[in-house]
Amino acid sequence: MPRYDALQGDTTVDVLVIGGGLIGLTTALLLARDGAQVALIEAQRIGSRTSGHTTGKVTSQHGAIYATLVARHGTAKARQYATANQAAVEQVAALIDAEGIDCEFLRTPAYVYSTKSADALDSEAAAASSLGLPAHLVDAAEVGVPAAAALRFDNQVQLHPVRYLAGLATAFERTGGRIFEHTRAVKVDEKDGAVHVSTEKGGVITAYQAVLATLLPIGITGAYFARTRPKQSHGIAVRLPVEAPTGMAISVDSPTHSTRPWPGGGPNGLIVVGSDHEVGSTNETGAAYQSLVDWVNSTWNAAIEPEYRWSAHDYSTPDLLPYVGRSPGSRSIFVATGMHKWGLSNGTVAAGIINDLIAGRDHPAADLYDATRFGDTRAVAKLITDNLKVGKNFTLGHAQRILRGGLDHLEAGQGGLLKTGNGTIGGYRDQDGNLHTIKPICTHLGCPLTWNTADTTWDCSCHGSRFDPDGEILDGPATTPLEAPTTDA
Ligand SMILES: Cc1cc2nc3c(=O)[nH]c(=O)nc-3n(C[C@H](O)[C@H](O)[C@H](O)COP(=O)(O)OP(=O)(O)OC[C@H]3O[C@@H](n4cnc5c(N)ncnc54)[C@H](O)[C@@H]3O)c2cc1C
Ligand code: FES
Repeated sequence: MPRYDALQGDTTVDVLVIGGGLIGLTTALLLARDGAQVALIEAQRIGSRTSGHTTGKVTSQHGAIYATLVARHGTAKARQYATANQAAVEQVAALIDAEGIDCEFLRTPAYVYSTKSADALDSEAAAASSLGLPAHLVDAAEVGVPAAAALRFDNQVQLHPVRYLAGLATAFERTGGRIFEHTRAVKVDEKDGAVHVSTEKGGVITAYQAVLATLLPIGITGAYFARTRPKQSHGIAVRLPVEAPTGMAISVDSPTHSTRPWPGGGPNGLIVVGSDHEVGSTNETGAAYQSLVDWVNSTWNAAIEPEYRWSAHDYSTPDLLPYVGRSPGSRSIFVATGMHKWGLSNGTVAAGIINDLIAGRDHPAADLYDATRFGDTRAVAKLITDNLKVGKNFTLGHAQRILRGGLDHLEAGQGGLLKTGNGTIGGYRDQDGNLHTIKPICTHLGCPLTWNTADTTWDCSCHGSRFDPDGEILDGPATTPLEAPTTDA
């Protein structure tokens, strides 16, 4: 990854992009290619959050989504979604070609399969092909994992996400763009026809337009935190005892397993992603990784350990469509969120929509992804249920187990909630014996935090903010670090 300095002082640009993941970098590059003067600020390192931890599938094959989209939104809207995402696959391929990005680009089929019954994908196959997608039912043995039915999408793309993001950043800079890392936006104000973005270090950036490409819009912008749910997924990279399946694949059954070849691991290399749960809903996250390892070992009759493991999260919307475009009530602030874990293609569509809106052009998917929509009645019902769940979590407070003993009893590698004379604090003792303590209350809207044992992070189940053991922000919508505990053990 190329490195960039932090912004010093104030600056002025045409468009400010906040967030250096796939959506921010693609949007910034498209705007710069159109001749806009663009700067991008990133709170940490570019590509270091969700986009750098994806499975790397660029495809219009989003699980078994198309029959559902047709049923919920009608054929015309489902076709808009299918067409936009298939076009995004080609747009990514064209960007890689035009900018000379070295990112293990590979054309390969994407399978969706069922382990349950031979006709499980019939309606999905009918919906996908009626929408013009390159999808066909095939012999389930093609997938390379035990399957009863399989639907193949031809000529899709897999890539190394971090190398792709590095290539986008380099291309953006080459086109005249400026990138500032370690520059966190803490406040976004719109007044007098301009957007003023304050940064953690005290600078102010003034722009005609600002794009919030921060996974979920930060703070309370557009109240998207109340209209989305954060799901965390886990990934492992393994070397199988035999050659790995050559196509990308995802199962429709529960638990879902998403796989793709891992070129770095040679012909036997495989990436497996799954074990989803809502962010902060459990602290036993080691079990999530172990269930992926167990699946690999039972599927390939092996006894292997993963060479890498990671987790990341993404947001879902109640009506399955991302929110992209102008933020409600705003002329100049644009948002992109709720990619349903298909943000390599959906996020490329999002970048195209925002670029066209800023340039005053029509985009064929702009109305479908409209960020100001409220949603259909089913979506509203789900929203109410989800919010009740969040409210319950909030009022129950710290429902998780309190560790016995005080800070002195924390062993190396152990973390969690501890009772002290004056209240509950969060503590973690690292492998070197150093102690890290925080006040376990999220700085976004005050929800209690859960200790994530396997990833050693503090996670918020309300809207998905995550923090490191010292309380520094890993993922928003929070914009301020955790407070230090006010009590001693
Ligand atoms: C495990 C997993 C696997 C996935 N696999 C696939 C896949 O194979 N194919 C696919 O299409 N999609 C996949 N997805 C979904 C896809 O990865 C996401 O939808 C996409 O990466 C989201 O991109 P983003 O730019 O919105 O977010 P991010 O990559 O998270 O970028 C947001 C950036 O904003 C920065 N930021 C946040 N707050 C601030 C602030 N206040 N100031 C400045 N910067 C800030 C963050 O540090 C971060 O770098 C997967 C998701 C997960 C979780
Ligand atoms: S992310 Fe909203 S309260 Fe924690």
